[in-house]
Amino acid sequence: MNSVLIKNIGTLLGISEATSAVRGAAMERVEAITDAYLLIVDGEIASFGEMASCPVVEDIEVLDAQGGIVHPAFCDSHTHLVYAGSREDEFIDKINGLSYEEIARRGGGILNSADRLNEASEDELFDSALRRLRQIAEKGTGAVEIKSGYGLTLDGELKMLRVIARLRKAMPEMAVKATFLGAHAVGRAFAGRQGDYVDHIIADMLPAVAAEGNADFVDVFCDAGFFTVEETDRILKAAAKVGLRPKIHANELDVSGGVQVGVANGALSVDHLERAESEELELLAGADTVATMLPGASFFLGMPYGKARRAVEAGCAVALASDWNPGSSPSGSMPMVMSLGCIKMKLSPEMALNAVTINGAAAMDLARSYGSVACGKAGSVVIYHPWVPSLNYIPYAYTEPQIAHVVLRGKTII
Ligand code: NIG
Ligand code: FE
Repeated sequence: MNSVLIKNIGTLLGISEATSAVRGAAMERVEAITDAYLLIVDGEIASFGEMASCPVVEDIEVLDAQGGIVHPAFCDSHTHLVYAGSREDEFIDKINGLSYEEIARRGGGILNSADRLNEASEDELFDSALRRLRQIAEKGTGAVEIKSGYGLTLDGELKMLRVIARLRKAMPEMAVKATFLGAHAVGRAFAGRQGDYVDHIIADMLPAVAAEGNADFVDVFCDAGFFTVEETDRILKAAAKVGLRPKIHANELDVSGGVQVGVANGALSVDHLERAESEELELLAGADTVATMLPGASFFLGMPYGKARRAVEAGCAVALASDWNPGSSPSGSMPMVMSLGCIKMKLSPEMALNAVTINGAAAMDLARSYGSVACGKAGSVVIYHPWVPSLNYIPYAYTEPQIAHVVLRGKTII
């Protein structure tokens, strides 16, 4: 693993010993040191502090931040970045007025991606996903969750999870978590037989997924037109028996009951929440489950935004993630997600930074090793150009290329 001394940091942001999500008023706090250094040894943060106490090191790469801001790398806790092809034709349908649900009903949407994925070879999938992984690394992401869910067949789902395992090996400086999302839509072979498909997930897919050992978590799209609360509950209980903790899609299209069934099953996170109301937010405020919102999907589909500010004020632990996928959010840019969090969801830049770092890490069960600057955590940080004047500027100048360097586990990516 790599070592590097980053010196002349203008402001080192995100200093915290937190090993779990921050919630409510604590989301407003971002600890900082000005005129700082950060020493990364063998991929981990070894020490940091004021430049005046910067250690003299030999045989270690030195990176001069030239007064730029530094913060922990982004932790993107919800993506579907393994997919075949793209769906820009549906994008045109959307421009012409069709909704996400209408496109799905016409056989487009997730099933369209599933057809292409089942035709693609494992190597093809791996190559395109590795390209996307490199893209997000260059944009400052240091930890990412990737879902299956475009196979919707036993072979297709296992193939996706194998691709995710290969990605982890191919890019060891990026933390990669894998989620089994067989219940993303009903596979074509089971059209009109949703109950049988759920039985197939439980009886055949989950044991095979567990046997291959490539999944960390389980997900269900618990929403109008997709899977019911009862089906979700059955799948989550079966997944718990093989050690997979839930991270679920809930309340994107309707007040689905997904938050309740997720919390009842000890979900690490419930994600989307565009239609979550006070009842859901109060429930999440009293639970360990992270409330993950995906403003990129709201932006792209023209949906309401999740009530992130209200969720923080209610005492929730809010994370923001990119939801990178070909249908509802064809972007893995976490700087853009942070900007949308501030511009559209009225988060302060401090809240947004916590949402895309420590809380994203917590939503992947990675907060002990990612999401803040602390000795022993991963040496994964974003270094801004010296002309970026403040944290407030980062989400404000929302298309400006502000990032000068990205260092992941001590390796300089750009
Ligand atoms: O998170 N909502 C469900 N799944 C994805 C979209 C998948 C697709 O359209 O391909 C999402 O938005
Ligand atoms: Fe998603």
